[in-house]
Amino acid sequence: MAKHQTTSFNFRSSCSILVFLSIFSSIPLLYWSYSIGYGYCHDQVENNKEMLSMEPIKLLKFPKAWNQLVFSSKQRRTPQTKLLKIGLFVRKWPEKNQAGGMERHALTLYLALAKRGHDLHIFTTSSSASIPSTMSNLHFHISRPIGSGYLNQVVAWKQFLEENATKAFDVIHSESVGLRLTKSSTYLNNVAVSWHGIAYETIHSDIIQELVRNPLDSSSQQVISDGKMMKVVEEVKFFQYYAHHVATSDHVGDVLKRIYMIPEERVHIILNGVDEEIFKPDVSKGNDFLLKLGLNQDRSRSSIILGLSGRLVKDKGHPLMFEALQQLFLENSTFKETVIVLIAGNGPWGDRYKELGPNVMVLGPLERAQLAEFYNAIDIFVHPTLRAQGLDQVPLEAFLTGKPVMATKLASFTGSIIVNEDMGYTFSPTVSELKRVLYEVWEGGKKNLEKKGGFARERGLKMFTATKMVAAYERLFLCISGNNEEKQQKNEDYCVYQPHQEMD
Ligand SMILES: *[C@@H]1O[C@H](CO)[C@@H](O)[C@H](O)[C@H]1NC(C)=O
Ligand SMILES: *[C@@H]1O[C@H](CO)[C@@H](O)[C@H](O)[C@H]1NC(C)=O
Repeated sequence: MAKHQTTSFNFRSSCSILVFLSIFSSIPLLYWSYSIGYGYCHDQVENNKEMLSMEPIKLLKFPKAWNQLVFSSKQRRTPQTKLLKIGLFVRKWPEKNQAGGMERHALTLYLALAKRGHDLHIFTTSSSASIPSTMSNLHFHISRPIGSGYLNQVVAWKQFLEENATKAFDVIHSESVGLRLTKSSTYLNNVAVSWHGIAYETIHSDIIQELVRNPLDSSSQQVISDGKMMKVVEEVKFFQYYAHHVATSDHVGDVLKRIYMIPEERVHIILNGVDEEIFKPDVSKGNDFLLKLGLNQDRSRSSIILGLSGRLVKDKGHPLMFEALQQLFLENSTFKETVIVLIAGNGPWGDRYKELGPNVMVLGPLERAQLAEFYNAIDIFVHPTLRAQGLDQVPLEAFLTGKPVMATKLASFTGSIIVNEDMGYTFSPTVSELKRVLYEVWEGGKKNLEKKGGFARERGLKMFTATKMVAAYERLFLCISGNNEEKQQKNEDYCVYQPHQEMD
């Protein structure tokens, strides 16, 4: 496991060991260990102080994920809470059960904001399914897509202005470049954009994909092109036109501030959240799911059950996973007999997986309720994706179900999700590394995974519930609402976080 990841649960004990060492060691060593120990422990004390501090926090300057804050549920319900008119620009509105990351994010967020009574206007392209608007405060403004499904900016903006003329919008929100601002003249101070993948992140994905590419395969083309860097430069230029940026991972928050050079008070980290009512621990659901697959309790109790889900395509890392499993099965018959792999989803790699034998079960795409059962049935969720863009939601679903995750060592995962070894594993995307970690998981056994699952659930509840995400966005929108300075000043209160008022 990666040594660089600090383990918060061991942190305090390493802290005391260092202090202990510094007392009993000889003089030069004493000084050395004391200074390290002091720095180490001092940081820890500082951290705790900050978390426990009752000082008001200026939210727009808060450098960490807003998910770490507790937003009072009481305060939100009071009649004084302002209801906002919000315009959302999103390329596609998802059909109920099929939604990629960005659309799922929009769906979860906006259905919840609608329930809280805000007046919502969604500017999006038509989809084949009719949009079920059962809520009178959720309005759709549909236009025909252009190019490969992009929102027609001219038409959508015209629709926006027409709606704005009836009553001015308080906030404008864009999911990635749903709303494309390209000139400084379009700068509006009540715009927020949530980034689900920026060009800088694709550099890491491209490096990995080029390394795992099989050059003998005539259909595979070189991934890295000269144009990529210019794409980052282009983004650095036009991102400036958006007043507020929501980074969906800690890593992207850092990149936006440092590399994209956006002032800190305009970059806010709000990590994705998933529905905690759907994804939660339920042992009997998991057992039923296994029984339906023909796996009786003896069989499942004596096996380590690995779970994978999503589209079974190359850039989600399935060739790597396939190769690792194939080699492990050949090398160690005990491993083969005591590991069960459940794969939810479909795609070209589905049929390949079936070749590996009866203990690799390809289940096809699952509805969300079934997916919740699936997570409950597994011991660990495996996420070998090679795509570094945005913050994937499947590991969050596994966390909330109380399952540990093993995932590719991408900055969004190591920085925001699997932040230490207590709740899972990360690996470099090579067959040998993946094999090594799969062995480690297997040898560690079920009890070990259960324990990690407990920590995963704890972190999930604190950071990744839909409720937390929605509360954070609502607060941001309240804080930045208003299309002129005078109106924005009235919202100052919402921009200040008062710990003692919110924590009840
Ligand atoms: C929306 O309407 C308000 C009030 O008339 C106006 O001040 C504002 O500039 C309009 N917004 C845009 C983007 O044109
Ligand atoms: C499989 O691996 C385990 C643990 O490393 C080892 O004890 C066992 O001997 C191996 N079995 C075979 C058949 O190689």
